[in-house]
Amino acid sequence: MSHIEYERLHHNLRRLKLMTFESILDNYLEAAANDGKSMIEILDHLVAQEVKSKESRSLAYRMRIAGFPVEKRLDKFDFEFQPSIDMAVINEIASLKFVHNAENVVFLGPPGVGKTHLSVGLGIAAAEANFNF
Ligand SMILES: Nc1ncnc2c1ncn2[C@@H]1O[C@H](COP(=O)(O)OP(=O)(O)OP(=O)(O)O)[C@@H](O)[C@H]1O
Ligand SMILES: [Mg+2]
Repeated sequence: MSHIEYERLHHNLRRLKLMTFESILDNYLEAAANDGKSMIEILDHLVAQEVKSKESRSLAYRMRIAGFPVEKRLDKFDFEFQPSIDMAVINEIASLKFVHNAENVVFLGPPGVGKTHLSVGLGIAAAEANFNF
């Protein structure tokens, strides 16, 4: 690759905002050449890394604008400690069909029994499933 093509490639990757692709390109190309990787393998890796970092930035953004008061995940909810909550029901709700169906979920109970934990857990599940708030 000539110097001009090299500069243009980097410049265009930046214009397209493919920042991860651009930042790992040089090192990866060198390693890939040593490993004898094919063109498809190289492109696949570079594009996959770009997708991964975009998705992770976009999840971080959705989490930020959601403004959860605490970061409590559903997998940290102890169903044995709270036997009045049926895990199967929560898992069904966590499928987020209720969002598609424009239905509501309401948690009722005395203070400190996990209502906020479950609500935030569902919110995080929605953020991870690409729902915008
Ligand atoms: N079953 C549980 N498993 C894990 N953590 C729990 C459970 N129940 C409650 N907690 C924890 O106890 C604390 C209080 O729970 P949470 O804030 O969800 O209660 P709440 O029902 O929303 O209370 P309030 O009515 O006062 O708002 C949180 O830190 C929560 O993560
Ligand atoms: Mg609460």
